[in-house]
Amino acid sequence: MAQEKRQIVQYLADYRPYPFILSETRLDFTLVPDATRVKAILSFAPRDSGQSQDLVLDGGEEVKLISLTIDGHEPDPAHVTRQDETLTIAATALPDAPFTVETEVEINPMANTTFEGLYMSGGMFCTQCEAQGFRHITFYPDRPDVMTTFRVGIHSDQNVLLSNGNLIGQKECGTEWYDPWPKPSYLFALVAGNLVAISDSFTTLSGRKVDLNVWVRPGDEDRADFAMESLIRSMKWDEEAYGREYDLEVFNIVAVDDFNMGAMENKGLNIFNSKLVLASPETATDGDYERIEGVIGHEYFHNWTGNRITCRDWFQLCLKEGLTVFRDQQFTSDMRSAPVKRIMDVQTLRARQFREDAGPLAHPPRPDHYEEINNFYTATVYEKGAEVIGMLKRLIGDDSYRQALDLYFDRHDGDAATIEDWLNVFQDATGRDLTQFKHWYTDAGTPHLNMVEEWSETTAGGTLTLTFTQNTPPTPGQPDKPARVIPIAVGLIGPNGDEVLPTQILEMTQASQGFSFEGLGARPVVSALRDFSAPVILTRNIDDDTRAFLLANDPNPFARWEAGRELAIAALVALSQGQPGGDSYVKAIGQLIADDDADPAFRALCLNLPGDEEIATRLSTLGIEPDPDAIYQARQDLARRIAETHQDLLARIYDSMQVSGAYSPDAEPSAKRALRIAALSLLNRIDGGERAEILFGTATNMTERMAALTCLIRRGRGQTALQILLEQFGDNRLVMDKWFSVQPMAAPPESAVATARELAQRSDFDWKNPNRYRALIGGLSANHAAFHARDGSGYNFVAEWIMKMDPVNPQIAARMSSVFETWPRYDTVRRAKALVALEQIAAVAGLSRNTREMVSRMIA
Ligand code: PHE
Ligand code: ZN
Repeated sequence: MAQEKRQIVQYLADYRPYPFILSETRLDFTLVPDATRVKAILSFAPRDSGQSQDLVLDGGEEVKLISLTIDGHEPDPAHVTRQDETLTIAATALPDAPFTVETEVEINPMANTTFEGLYMSGGMFCTQCEAQGFRHITFYPDRPDVMTTFRVGIHSDQNVLLSNGNLIGQKECGTEWYDPWPKPSYLFALVAGNLVAISDSFTTLSGRKVDLNVWVRPGDEDRADFAMESLIRSMKWDEEAYGREYDLEVFNIVAVDDFNMGAMENKGLNIFNSKLVLASPETATDGDYERIEGVIGHEYFHNWTGNRITCRDWFQLCLKEGLTVFRDQQFTSDMRSAPVKRIMDVQTLRARQFREDAGPLAHPPRPDHYEEINNFYTATVYEKGAEVIGMLKRLIGDDSYRQALDLYFDRHDGDAATIEDWLNVFQDATGRDLTQFKHWYTDAGTPHLNMVEEWSETTAGGTLTLTFTQNTPPTPGQPDKPARVIPIAVGLIGPNGDEVLPTQILEMTQASQGFSFEGLGARPVVSALRDFSAPVILTRNIDDDTRAFLLANDPNPFARWEAGRELAIAALVALSQGQPGGDSYVKAIGQLIADDDADPAFRALCLNLPGDEEIATRLSTLGIEPDPDAIYQARQDLARRIAETHQDLLARIYDSMQVSGAYSPDAEPSAKRALRIAALSLLNRIDGGERAEILFGTATNMTERMAALTCLIRRGRGQTALQILLEQFGDNRLVMDKWFSVQPMAAPPESAVATARELAQRSDFDWKNPNRYRALIGGLSANHAAFHARDGSGYNFVAEWIMKMDPVNPQIAARMSSVFETWPRYDTVRRAKALVALEQIAAVAGLSRNTREMVSRMIA
């Protein structure tokens, strides 16, 4: 008889509530690096009396069961089954009344290289339980809809012992924690290490004092202040913007060096990748500071959107992630510049999510099946999940949005909720039918939206009719897509540059739909999809002059930037196909950067050319096979032309945007540095690297030093600077990560793979550390023309490292494999090489479920 294997594909439609209620969890840890003991006391009750259901607990195969009792008695071994990743106690062995299950298990954190469950990082114990890591700690109903209070004892000789909730007991070699807020296992956390804290406090709106700590390794304490300031700003902002207060006596943040993701929102004990906590002017860039603030906010905001209201099952992941990303984007907009933040978010969305949506890994924000949930922490779930909420808010308005959110917190506090619950809240708060809107959650793919203008004049004035047509290309498993509701923000600008119609939201619900504007004087220029009011690909018949007009006159900063972007992309698309192009862009950009009254951040954004990847994406959207070498060349040529044409202007900017005085990561000085760096990277193409050389030697902040280093590597003269950095920061992991990533990323395509191979040989290429691995392997993959080298050398290098990482840390290997997701859009030679690489990965014996799912979706 064949053993029945665990079901491989999980389906949303198969959801069933857990048949038992868990009213309390007590855990007791005795921490030993290679033999940690975990005792668990779980208080269960049958969900329905008279039910006769087995109790199924999740537990990794490596979890050693030492003892098991039910209400204090050992069950008959015939009633206990250990199979794959579960432990089942037969219904016959369970009373039809509340009962307790007591287990003791042994695990080996030191041998855990997956950084999931309980593991060790630099001598400290640390946990990561989302999504299904808790089952590697002990036997448990490891699913988000099973929520209970946790009481946790920790015994260890490490000097700092932390868990969720409030500290309720402390003695030598031990602490006890109690978290009064029922939570699922994925929010459990434990840390034990030799740590020091930066401490502060925060008084909530209702006057409760909360102790705040940022825990770091001794020696790092001078780089944690910004994280603490960001936390305080986040707490204040959530009170002001959403009326949400913090709910425990203490909030702890811990920085760890080995972490698979950015950070984790464990209740009252956030655990962060150290690169998202530690910052000093000498070691972190402006971009790092901004990310730290954003992610500290993100994890803090999860306390309400994720923790107090969690997800019923993992298909609902975007319920917490989309909303929390949306909230952290609002936070950053409020702390910094809203238009700049919007432009940057749209850039990320296009670079990561549109790319995902257009390829073999496309899936809806709420998927209905998966094999490995860790493969669904994607740009679609996070970034598109946030865009969908932005659209909802645009459709109903700010006040209704706030009312709906109040209702959501009110109605679902303490729940494990679904996307249906979320949409019902909006329906009930506004009276709107959201049936059609729901397609944004259930359907994959980026809608293509075409706009056609029609102008007619009568004696009563002119009428402009805009006809929009929408169409969403097929995605895996979803061949046909119904029309979606699309909020299209439109404004009209008169020929003299004045706005004749301020922003209106057109609500498109049909496959094709016209909107008319009557009584107009002269034919206006249409500013469409302002603020990127919907995540769609807009096409329209528009010439360079009109784009240049919008770039000069549109009062909506996003639309202005977009007009400039479109000019640049049109030029690069033409140039990469051997056609002429770029004159209008070069001219327009000259006017824009000469305008000293314009926001430096905005000018910097306009000066940065679209990347190779973005050009390739555009070409493929137009149905053209992208040629990475031609794209690279086109981009080089256009940049050089801008530099030559505007040499004096750029030099003036470079000199005048120097920021003096003490370093500050605030929006204003960062913007000046960004503009200065944008000018530098253009000038670098014609000054032989002279400015970069000087800047590298004189700059006192990492922002400018990294920019200078990148320029020097591009000119083939980075060696001295790299050596200097190595000597100065060889023992600083975060700076060394930059050192490892900038080289393959900025190297000319023909030498980048060789550079990466050489770096991979170094003894300080500590590849099991996710940051270091991503720096080098991800750095090479981000060099478009190198990764897609025609001889397949880039594909082979990355594939080798995916296969090497897979048995050690499947999550990281699987995540890296997505760099291949665009392979179907290239030419036959490249496609063949990519396919060989992917098939080689697929053929590995014992390949993880994570990587197997990714690769098989990509070659399906
Ligand atoms: N929930 C985390 C976040 O978005 C991300 C994460 C997922 C971290 C899985 C670790 C593991 O903030
Ligand atoms: Zn999150």
